[in-house]
Amino acid sequence: MEPVNLSSAAIEDLNMKKITIVGVGRVGESTAQILAKEELCREIMLLDINEGMPQGVALDIQESAALLRFDTRVNGDTDAAAMEDSDIVIVTAGIPRKPGMSRSDVLDTNLAVIDGIVDNMLHYAPDAMLLMVTNPVDVLTWHAWKKTGWSRQRVFGQSGALDTARMATFIALETGYSIKDISPLVLGGHGDAMVPMTRFTDIGGINIEHFLSPEAIEGIVERTRKGGGEILELKKNSSAYDSPAAAIATMVDAISHNRRRIMPCVSILDGEYDQHDIAMGVPAVLDETGLIKVIELNLNEKERSDFQRSAEVVRADINRLS
Ligand code: LAC
Repeated sequence: MEPVNLSSAAIEDLNMKKITIVGVGRVGESTAQILAKEELCREIMLLDINEGMPQGVALDIQESAALLRFDTRVNGDTDAAAMEDSDIVIVTAGIPRKPGMSRSDVLDTNLAVIDGIVDNMLHYAPDAMLLMVTNPVDVLTWHAWKKTGWSRQRVFGQSGALDTARMATFIALETGYSIKDISPLVLGGHGDAMVPMTRFTDIGGINIEHFLSPEAIEGIVERTRKGGGEILELKKNSSAYDSPAAAIATMVDAISHNRRRIMPCVSILDGEYDQHDIAMGVPAVLDETGLIKVIELNLNEKERSDFQRSAEVVRADINRLS
């Protein structure tokens, strides 16, 4: 008997046929659940080196389809060849930091992991977009971009979607207003020197200074900078994964639906913000072909020096590699 094609018309119409997630840890698994549930592609491939694990996770998610009502196919494999024909490869593999560690402390271990994945991409998925999530995400995005030789349009990373989500959360908690009306912006590297941009942060189009005291705003800025660390300190044996997964899914949604959304992404900078040959969080436009445009803002002196300081932290990691 011919296998029944379960795919709905809507899912057949999607531009994205296949998304591979490399690294089926908590971030990878949570991401897969959201992408599947939201039907952001026809097939999700979960890749990991632990035999049986990606297949098991894939089957578990697939079995939720009958209840959550989605037609996305979810498969798992340990063979890198399974990433073939992917439109996007999302890289979440590597070790997370432990309490007290900075994201840079996991650079050496994760660099070796990323090198292997990029080699596999060059071989099996040479036309895919690469969405880097593994930390330290700025330097690893830069490294993957260098190693592939691809354009920055299809090598970029996730951090700003998460960092702005955290900032929006803290503003909503402080003001009591709907998170749906809160539109923050966070630039810079995904570390404690990231740059929450209060001048570009609105509630219903009105700058947050209208609602919050300078001290309250400073508190929100500090909490945003350390948002990942706060969760790690509380959970102790795991970094955040639900909100990172939602952040990744938001980027994929923009790409999959060709939305031309503007959101901060880890982008290769080619002169923007006075930076060359580095990857950092800046506002960018995402469409079905990837990161099509970096938006350069006119920063004031304080913002420029904060951005510069954040760039120096990322640059220090890059220099460790070269
Ligand atoms: C965080 C880690 C995942 O910010 O970078 O939670």
